[in-house]
Amino acid sequence: MPRLSSGARRMVTALGVLASLSLLTVQPAFAEPWFMGTDSVEAGQLSQLWWLTLILSAVVFVMVEGLLIYSSIRFRRRTSLPSVEPPQIHGNTRLEVMWAIVPAVILISLFGLSVRTLSAMSVIPEDGERIRVEGAQFSWNFTYQDSGVQVSSTNGALVIPTERPVIFEITARDVIHSFWVPDLGGKTDAIPGKLNRMTWTVLKPGMYRGVCAELCGSGHAGMLFSVDARPLAEYQAWLEQQKSGAGAAPPAAGGVAAGDSSAGRALIASKGCGGCHNVPGVQGANGAVGPSLAGVAGRTKIAGGAVNNTGPDDLKKWIMDPKALKASTAMPTLGLTDAEATSIVAYLETLK
Ligand code: CUA
Repeated sequence: MPRLSSGARRMVTALGVLASLSLLTVQPAFAEPWFMGTDSVEAGQLSQLWWLTLILSAVVFVMVEGLLIYSSIRFRRRTSLPSVEPPQIHGNTRLEVMWAIVPAVILISLFGLSVRTLSAMSVIPEDGERIRVEGAQFSWNFTYQDSGVQVSSTNGALVIPTERPVIFEITARDVIHSFWVPDLGGKTDAIPGKLNRMTWTVLKPGMYRGVCAELCGSGHAGMLFSVDARPLAEYQAWLEQQKSGAGAAPPAAGGVAAGDSSAGRALIASKGCGGCHNVPGVQGANGAVGPSLAGVAGRTKIAGGAVNNTGPDDLKKWIMDPKALKASTAMPTLGLTDAEATSIVAYLETLK
């Protein structure tokens, strides 16, 4: 008998030690993006609350499960039937009051702390950089509200200052997306017709990885973006450079021959062509439903051999209205403008 109960005690101790050890080893293991990062003031607040909740839950879990396992072993039936009922504790008022009050106090404290943290995080500062974030299938568009500078995730990083609040106004063009940079904060849903606000004050300059955290269609996995956090002076220099036209101007409307291939590349990403086609140079464009577009401009026949391709104009006609050239095609009509189609073909030409 004493041999068994000491074995049970050893088992409970071992479980407790194991649980504490696994807690200790969780955080240092993540040098890469970690969903409870602390590189912005807001992410730090959230992280603190998360760790506190986790540790409290872990203590309760280990206690409850430990007692359960201990009791199952220590008080298991040892005599053959009919067994004797062990002493019951029903009616122990002190014990019952205690296990009603302790959980209530823990839950009310957690509730209070959560409300405090969330309200601190939802304060929108008067002074800060305001950036509009628009999610679209399948890219992110960032507009710097004070200067009108625009950046798309298909051809650049979201550049932001450190040590200064950045206020994001988050929305979507088509379906629901979700804006998330694990190290800095989020995640905030991007909903068509709605504006969700979120503030970051980034503490450390550096490159951070962002993702779309809402399944939004076939190109969802390709909705990655980079955040480039720079010291304020460097950020302002970058913004000035963008304003003074270093940012590529959009192609002249109706331009016939010379489309802007980098605009075309961005269009291929935003129209979701990559859901069906493999398109070299476009992030996430690795669909296998349709043919690969590598070298498409150099082919003499397109649309499965149904359409002659003698030059850019044929390709343009095809992508503007595929059903007019081959009624049975699976290629959708995207409603491209002339200028958009010209740019897309300009990019496809570079894949010869
Ligand atoms: Cu956008 Cu997932």
